[in-house]
Amino acid sequence: MTDKTLIELSGQQTQMIVELGEYAEILHWGQKVSGDLEGFRMALHRPVPYGRLDNDVSMTLHPELGRGVFSSPGVEGHRDGQDWAPVFVITHQELHEEGVVIESEDVIAGLRLKTELKLDKNDVIKTRHTLTNIKDGVYQVNRLANTLPLPARANELMTYYGRWVYEFQTVRQPLYQGGYQQENRRGRTSHEHYPALVAGTAHFDEMSGDVWGFHFAWSGNHRLRVDVKADGRRYMQAEVIYLPGEVALKEGESVATPWLYASHSNSGLNGMSHHFHSHVRDTILPSDFKDKPRPIHLNTWEGIYFDHDPEYIMSMATQSAEMGVERFIIDDGWFKGRNGDKAGLGDWFLCETKYPNGLQPVVEHVNKLGMEFGLWFEPEMINKDSDLFRAHPEWLLAVDGYNQPTGRNQYVINLQNDEAFNFLFERLDHFLSTYNIAYIKWDMNREVVQPAHQGQAAAHNQTHRYYQLVDKVREKHPKVDIESCAAGGGRIDFEVLKRTHRFWASDNNDALERQTIQRGMSYFFPPEVMGSHIGASHCHSTRRRHSIEFRGLTALFGHMGIELDPVKEAQAEKQGFERYIQLHKKLRPLLHSGRTWRVTADDCAHQIHAVVANDQSEAVVLIAQLAMPTNSLSGHLRVPGLDPNGLYRVSVLDKPSNYDDIVNYQPPWTESGCELSGTWCKDVGLTMPILDAESAMLVTFERIR
Ligand code: GLA
Repeated sequence: MTDKTLIELSGQQTQMIVELGEYAEILHWGQKVSGDLEGFRMALHRPVPYGRLDNDVSMTLHPELGRGVFSSPGVEGHRDGQDWAPVFVITHQELHEEGVVIESEDVIAGLRLKTELKLDKNDVIKTRHTLTNIKDGVYQVNRLANTLPLPARANELMTYYGRWVYEFQTVRQPLYQGGYQQENRRGRTSHEHYPALVAGTAHFDEMSGDVWGFHFAWSGNHRLRVDVKADGRRYMQAEVIYLPGEVALKEGESVATPWLYASHSNSGLNGMSHHFHSHVRDTILPSDFKDKPRPIHLNTWEGIYFDHDPEYIMSMATQSAEMGVERFIIDDGWFKGRNGDKAGLGDWFLCETKYPNGLQPVVEHVNKLGMEFGLWFEPEMINKDSDLFRAHPEWLLAVDGYNQPTGRNQYVINLQNDEAFNFLFERLDHFLSTYNIAYIKWDMNREVVQPAHQGQAAAHNQTHRYYQLVDKVREKHPKVDIESCAAGGGRIDFEVLKRTHRFWASDNNDALERQTIQRGMSYFFPPEVMGSHIGASHCHSTRRRHSIEFRGLTALFGHMGIELDPVKEAQAEKQGFERYIQLHKKLRPLLHSGRTWRVTADDCAHQIHAVVANDQSEAVVLIAQLAMPTNSLSGHLRVPGLDPNGLYRVSVLDKPSNYDDIVNYQPPWTESGCELSGTWCKDVGLTMPILDAESAMLVTFERIR
């Protein structure tokens, strides 16, 4: 015990105590406590029961079978059947302001492991391993995982599931012996297995409980697990799923895991989100445009689909500018052979039949109207019905001799093929250099099946090559905003966000569905990176109809846009778009910098969402009525996060058009406003109004003293 040292990493609220000897072990990760480290060591050492190994077995940052850890190992691999059970011993450690870098070696197995563990001022931990082969011969890496411990009182989970047009659904479950595992083998982050989860103490909720949130920053195949060991200890593990033979290290070669991000909060899910949101804002988002307000989009997709006529598109742009739109985006359908979703992908040349005078007049028209211009691409994809495929059938990401299934009639291009990679870069570069393009929507509409380069499995490297392609484009065109889209929410994670600016959260513009999708996304992402559009009143993905108020207020709480054909819309609808555009412009400085609070409602038919200014001077609260109220009276609206000693003016900023017609009368505060202290707002609150199902209301709080 004495040859071990204790180090302490601290954030504002979080503390991590790590013991370093032959190996590193996290003894405590949770709320910061003051005291003597030696005392902590005595307090935290374990007994050794009969009936198992004679020594205490530590939970290292990479469980090792050779140390008697009967858990999912951190490293699995072999060198021609040898060197398969490595045991690493620390050779060097360096303590930095934000964390520790530990180097360990197994001289027998000929492996070196570098472990980085950091804790920042936003209370977010990030960790990764880099494994190097330091001996003769090829080391086949089967697995390389990041592992973080959880205390025994973490006995409940919140995990994610979903699908196309139904992303970011959350589910709660107890954490039993045996634990939890999710695997994503779809080759992109995926709609189904968003790479994050939360573990916490029993019944943790938005406001209370200890929670430990995890986000694995990787846009490909992954495995996440939370294991309860037979002795009751538990840990979270995240890794890339390597396909057979995919990672083979020659002497001197290395492979690194993605970063695993994690954060503890002792004030429930809101506290955890505050850590992640601040971390994303300070550290992950590209810094280029941090101070620029996020422009309101008009995206043509659900307005005209593949039916492009430049004259008509220019009239759409004119109407958009009149409504206050700031960025006009031509979506899919502008390039050669693209008259539907069966052909054209790969032929990134302007369709001269649709655009006989070129794209320039449209771009100029848009710019003259004072708007930025944006364009859609899906670089990684190819249709068999394309000139590109006819010229280069060998560019498919596939195993020769098999017929893999199509997805949306398309295949994936092998980005490990340099010619293909350079062609795609050249095409993107051409458009970005020729036209005044401020933004591109980077789509990826299918899953990856049997990915191979020269016959060998290549999912892992394909993801790296995708990052490199985006990086190369950004290096040459640093002023261009990029939206990550993969049939909506199929590629949303922290690693993509380091090189893009926003996400298309879902292809589903139905305001009711969006309420749930956006809430699920809000646990890890701040609102400004969440693309959120007002669609047509008759939603294209669900066939539901919603009022402009409900659609407008739902889209307001992200990076707002409109997605329809404004030329064809009725006057009343257009006035609605204008109204919510103005409202978004007014509120976006607050929405895109403040603190998000998911507010606990007395009735589960409501979803309440608040954003409070960092200086607590104002707040905006959305009351969304998702379903019929359970009772005729719905309790109170209580808003956390305001200055307890401040006095606030409460006013209704927006409400359904039938608001006064559906009751004898509504709560008086919703008519004339009122003044209340921050403490009152948090602890007692205001009587809830009566709303129809699928409608919403916006309330503001302004500090007057
Ligand atoms: C995907 C995107 C949509 C749209 C279409 C175009 O589905 O998510 O927003 O861009 O592709 O084909």
